[in-house]
Amino acid sequence: MSTMKSSKREPVDAARDAFRDTFSAQPQWTCRAPGRVNLIGEHVDYNEGLVLPVAIDLEIGLAFRRRDDRRVRIHSLSFDETAEFDIDDLAPGSPVAPPPPPSWSVYPAAVAWAMRRAHLPLLGIDATIAGDIPPGAGLSSSAAVEIAFAAAFRQVADLGLSDLELARHAHAAENDFVGVRCGMMDQIASACARRGRAALIDCRSLEVRHIALPPALRMVIVDSGVDRELRDSEYNQRRLECEEAARRLAALDDGIASLRDVPAEAPTSLLDALPAPLDRRARHVVGEIERVRLAAAALENNETERFGELLFASHRSLRDDFEVSCEELDTLVELGRQAAGVIGSRLTGAGFGGCTVNVVSAALVSDFRRYVADGYERLYGRRPRTWVSDPAPGVSVDPVW
Ligand code: GLA
Repeated sequence: MSTMKSSKREPVDAARDAFRDTFSAQPQWTCRAPGRVNLIGEHVDYNEGLVLPVAIDLEIGLAFRRRDDRRVRIHSLSFDETAEFDIDDLAPGSPVAPPPPPSWSVYPAAVAWAMRRAHLPLLGIDATIAGDIPPGAGLSSSAAVEIAFAAAFRQVADLGLSDLELARHAHAAENDFVGVRCGMMDQIASACARRGRAALIDCRSLEVRHIALPPALRMVIVDSGVDRELRDSEYNQRRLECEEAARRLAALDDGIASLRDVPAEAPTSLLDALPAPLDRRARHVVGEIERVRLAAAALENNETERFGELLFASHRSLRDDFEVSCEELDTLVELGRQAAGVIGSRLTGAGFGGCTVNVVSAALVSDFRRYVADGYERLYGRRPRTWVSDPAPGVSVDPVW
């Protein structure tokens, strides 16, 4: 079994070649920023909890040059469209290139806007962008685009920001310009991940600890192909429910500022005091944060079986208490459970469709993949896309010679 990249052209190479054709000049740098899967810790980043994502071998590639003014010109290979805007013209909701702005350009525009708002002395860029992260599959293609452009703006104006600071600006961009109230997991994973490791992120302190994933294990990502139409509205709804649960618990115990503050061993009567469905939502979040702690310890102690059990338990909690699964995702997890080589399986990302992440013994990856894809095709009449990945490194910028 090969990695995902073996037979494909790297996005960064495609972007570099296209740059010459588009701008009749050499790019000065290339940049790559990966997508991510989350191993465990779902819907807890915006509750200041712990998460354990891994960057994957699917990525966004840029080639770019510094400009002396504050204009940004971007050609997208995937869409075969060019977007153009001036950093000083950007305001949330305003079109970036009249009329009509290409929809994908909202992400680079949002990042430029957030960095400008933070009073960073930005310079314009010419850039080409390519990528192989499937959009809409819950693998954080938008966070990767944001991080790639944040790194490009850092490079051309020599801003001296850390990778974590890039993630902060990208997160502000997504929340305040794009208007999606996500947590910071995806941006930190794309910016700060390390090769061969999962990132244990404390979403309160933003401390990141890198934990090795045993080389005998690989990740198999399976796309349910389910349209996630409901996702943004339901996502924001879950977030509001968590905030409401925290507010009510704070009235009972002033040590509670967010669900992160409810200890895993808190008496069940505390959460039972909440009206439905807030009790279930809180139970998921409190239990999930504890599962991340245990999963990180299991990885560090090489307790693979224990790690896998926690992944399955996370899925059950997302299905029954947080109610963000769907029939197709439950089916994929069930098929995963039956397949050869499985360690653990669960939905990954926001839910309501998208992908499952499966941790599988490296030697049995082909069998696993076939079993799950065959089973899914038999039931739903379509073959799911699958990818095999090892943990990839976070964002990087290289000079073009
Ligand atoms: C999406 C969001 C993340 C996180 C996950 C659920 O991916 O972008 O911030 O909340 O959903 O864990």
